[in-house]
Amino acid sequence: MSNPFYNRDVISVKDFSRDELLGLFKTTDLICELPTEDRLRLCRGRILASLFYEPSTRTRLSFEAAMMWTGGTVIGFADPQVSSAVKGEKLADTIRVVEGYADLIVLRHPLEGAARFAASVSTKPVINGGSGSEEHPTQAMLDLYTIYREAGGIDGLNIGVLGDLKYGRTVYSLLYGLANFRVVVYLISPPMLKIRPEALYELHGRIRVEELERVEDCIEALDVLYVTRIQKERFPDPREYEQVRGSYRITLNTLKKAKGRLLLMHPLPRVDEISPEVDSSPHAVYFKQAHYGKIVRAALLAMILNEDLPS
Ligand code: NCD
Repeated sequence: MSNPFYNRDVISVKDFSRDELLGLFKTTDLICELPTEDRLRLCRGRILASLFYEPSTRTRLSFEAAMMWTGGTVIGFADPQVSSAVKGEKLADTIRVVEGYADLIVLRHPLEGAARFAASVSTKPVINGGSGSEEHPTQAMLDLYTIYREAGGIDGLNIGVLGDLKYGRTVYSLLYGLANFRVVVYLISPPMLKIRPEALYELHGRIRVEELERVEDCIEALDVLYVTRIQKERFPDPREYEQVRGSYRITLNTLKKAKGRLLLMHPLPRVDEISPEVDSSPHAVYFKQAHYGKIVRAALLAMILNEDLPS
């Protein structure tokens, strides 16, 4: 099978075509079916460096689990305070050293552009595990896979994205990924957290986008509702955060008028934007979505590291 992900950086979801994304999803399904011995051969003898300069639970642990699940091993740090960054080492130097220890690098960093910069320095593939409020491409890949798997496809769906559309990086990557499919997107946020113009510019002419302030005004039309957390840590002024705090919350009542098959998604962590009573409703797929993170990332690692994959 010819593999377009081989030896490639994953910096923005914009760099991947519809066919490439669908190919990743097919490989994900295929890897899940492999006998254990064959799966463990995919990344055997390979080393992933996991460099996290910002807090993470799912992204780091699912990448690490994915590498081990496919037979590889992991080095890295989960907190820059235990790395030479505290001694003043520059990111470029860290990358130059780590590329000598590992076969590929996953980087999460608070600065926009950090992953692209690291990729320009590194001779080994770099995966963006979240770059400031800019992008989180592998989250979008697992989000799209969740829709593809749980709804049986992506084309033809009405997709609501609710919450902090200004600072939430998962939103940008998801929208750029959705632009490859025939969907209608409802962007739902308080006025202060509206989408940044760059995304509207990017989506213009590719998919239909509607902007709203209240989820109640479109809930009946939706096939997917993707909820996000207010990104408190990215607000330049804490008073701005206080003005929007708690301004939206999904409860069982919100979902009363929803289609029976509505998928309720969230990249997690959740704070208070989805009431825990919703967790046991058939709509809630956010924990499943997090579990899909491991298998999609395993497929991605296997594809980057192997020119030919079993088909
Ligand atoms: C997100 C992130 O880090 O951008 N989390 C994740 O990777 N699943 C979302 C968030 O922090 O709200």
